[in-house]
Amino acid sequence: MSTMLEVSGLNHRYGAGEKAHVAVNDLSFTVEAGQLASIVGPSGCGKSTLLRCIAGLIKPTSGRVSLHGEAISSGVPDDLAVVFQDYSRSLFPWLSVEKNVEFPLRWRNLSRSERRTRARDSLESVGLSGVGSKFPWQLSGGMQQRVSIARALASRPALLLMDEPFASVDAQTRFELEDLTRRVQRENGSTILVVTHDIDESVYLSDRVLVLSKSPATIVADLPVGLPAERDQITTRESAEFVTLRGEVARLLHGGAPEAVTAASDAAEYELAQQEAAADAAEASTEARAKS
Ligand SMILES: Nc1ncnc2c1ncn2[C@@H]1O[C@H](COP(=O)(O)OP(=O)(O)OP(=O)(O)O)[C@@H](O)[C@H]1O
Ligand SMILES: [Mg+2]
Repeated sequence: MSTMLEVSGLNHRYGAGEKAHVAVNDLSFTVEAGQLASIVGPSGCGKSTLLRCIAGLIKPTSGRVSLHGEAISSGVPDDLAVVFQDYSRSLFPWLSVEKNVEFPLRWRNLSRSERRTRARDSLESVGLSGVGSKFPWQLSGGMQQRVSIARALASRPALLLMDEPFASVDAQTRFELEDLTRRVQRENGSTILVVTHDIDESVYLSDRVLVLSKSPATIVADLPVGLPAERDQITTRESAEFVTLRGEVARLLHGGAPEAVTAASDAAEYELAQQEAAADAAEASTEARAKS
């Protein structure tokens, strides 16, 4: 596997002087090509800031973000797309669904017919073949978010970033969109980074969950999700592995230490205690020898 995204030593501070607010503090991680990684963290911890820095929408105060080895310096790279939570503000109400999906392709070197074909293919891949001529406001919330996903996919991004993409839809639609995202990842081999504050969603969706601390965001744990690739909203969520993982993420979000770290610190404490016991024994035997 090759590295698609590399974030190293990323910091972002809003404002300056006394009113400065550090939103992201020295974050480093990589995402491999074809991986679906989730980021979970408490509200206000800096998740959207991190995503905006990765997308090139804001320039980080310091640190480096690179996409397949190339540093993201200014502006959104061509092969990166973002899906935001608020579909009602991210789609143009005066353009048809198909024109909305085609819109970002205008700046690509593509013919009109190629743009149209790509838009239709993307709409088909999210199950919206028949609605291209409708306007966004004629669709349900879940359908509008599918249009946003289709628009992101139309540019065939190397990296798809999603910021709480299903937070504004009902539970049933959310399940459908989660399954859609997993299918898209597998069919297109996409690399996807999803921000969510839903613990169950982070586990169900991903190959890996990055847990962030309270503000300013730092990485508390990086948990691999060993669930089978074929997932099902009922049976997967009932499986022992899922329940254990969601418990672990919940514990970490509530300030618990990661298992591995706990184990490591337990081992270190044990070793220290052994050393102290050995030193005490040596001291006692020296004293005993001195007395005799
Ligand atoms: N443009 C800005 N100017 C100043 N402060 C900001 C700005 N945007 C965000 N912040 C602050 O930075 C911190 C992190 O915000 P951010 O939106 O990244 O958090 P978040 O983890 O995405 O939160 P949520 O879960 O509520 O979406 C917050 O304290 C927020 O008030
Ligand atoms: Mg946010």
